[in-house]
Amino acid sequence: MSCLRDWPEPVVRVQSVSDSGLLVIPDQYIKPPSERPSIASAAEANIPLIDLQGLVLEDDTKIPASTLTQISNACRDWGFFQIVNHGVSPILMDQMLRLWRQFFHLPIELKQIYANSPSTYEGYGSRLGVQKGAILDWSDYFFLHYLPPALKDHNKWPALPNSCREVTEEYGDQLVKLCRILMKVLSINLGLGEDYLQNMFGGEDIGVCLRVNFYPKCPQPDLTLGLSSHSDPGGMTLLFSDDHVAGLQVRKGENWVTVKPAQHAFIINIGDQIQVLSNATYKSVEHRVLVNSVEERLSLAFFYNPKSDLLIEPAKELVTPDRPALYPPMTFDEYRLYIRTKGPRGKSQMETQKSLR
Ligand code: OGA
Ligand code: NI
Repeated sequence: MSCLRDWPEPVVRVQSVSDSGLLVIPDQYIKPPSERPSIASAAEANIPLIDLQGLVLEDDTKIPASTLTQISNACRDWGFFQIVNHGVSPILMDQMLRLWRQFFHLPIELKQIYANSPSTYEGYGSRLGVQKGAILDWSDYFFLHYLPPALKDHNKWPALPNSCREVTEEYGDQLVKLCRILMKVLSINLGLGEDYLQNMFGGEDIGVCLRVNFYPKCPQPDLTLGLSSHSDPGGMTLLFSDDHVAGLQVRKGENWVTVKPAQHAFIINIGDQIQVLSNATYKSVEHRVLVNSVEERLSLAFFYNPKSDLLIEPAKELVTPDRPALYPPMTFDEYRLYIRTKGPRGKSQMETQKSLR
């Protein structure tokens, strides 16, 4: 993994490029024409919005059948959906946005203490992938681990603003609980035992991490992307962002659908590991982020992943003579090395994995 020890070029904070007041963005952020935002037609649709009222509060044997069906359809048709009335405190969600926005607005020296490296990606970063000369995305981020406990280290989380660590800790606790419920729903919907996915992820030994994405204002938003098209490599992602600044786009066939976030909603998406476990009954769908010249945007991407050294392979129940296993067994550690080396690249990683068979 020596190639992952250092960044290939000096790291430039996108926020400092944005703050410098340039009217023309540097070449390394200019995407080839085929990847620019304007090329794709943005469809008017929105991803499904699902009200979880009752699901979180009641005993989970009483999950309303209609809610299960809505989630099942969303997983099959979109790979993405939004949930409201999910049981996570809206006050806590607002505090998270406020504190992390404050973090990104601290003086650069205070953020540099947490500068990250490609060996673990933990901390304050400005690129994904270590390929020299790569075209970069218009965003900075902060990446941290919640689980397993051996990887959680509060000293690697920001000491400032005050209470950032405590609030981030509480947010993680609440989201892990929500994820456990969603894993049951997905397992039931796939016709597997309700604990199936959780067990395949390692039971109590799952991996959980957070990436706070910061998208500064951009003077030429039509030439670049805040985050290039990718599918999430892990299990499932819960995204929370400002509801008044759009940016996330989800692929729907040949179109890109701009997500309009509902207030205090989580945007849930299926990651590559659930695509594998479900033998592609559920797809992890490509998405990307646009930036704009008017307002910065912050998002919290919470990743719920399998224990990193377990083999993940299609569930036996979903493999039949008509539908053979589409993917070879692979650990999440092996799998994510690809994205950590090459950066976000559509779904090329899933295709590479398929061709290994
Ligand atoms: C991600 C992601 C979307 C967003 O962090 O993987 O897709 O809106 N983020 O920031
Ligand atoms: Ni993503």
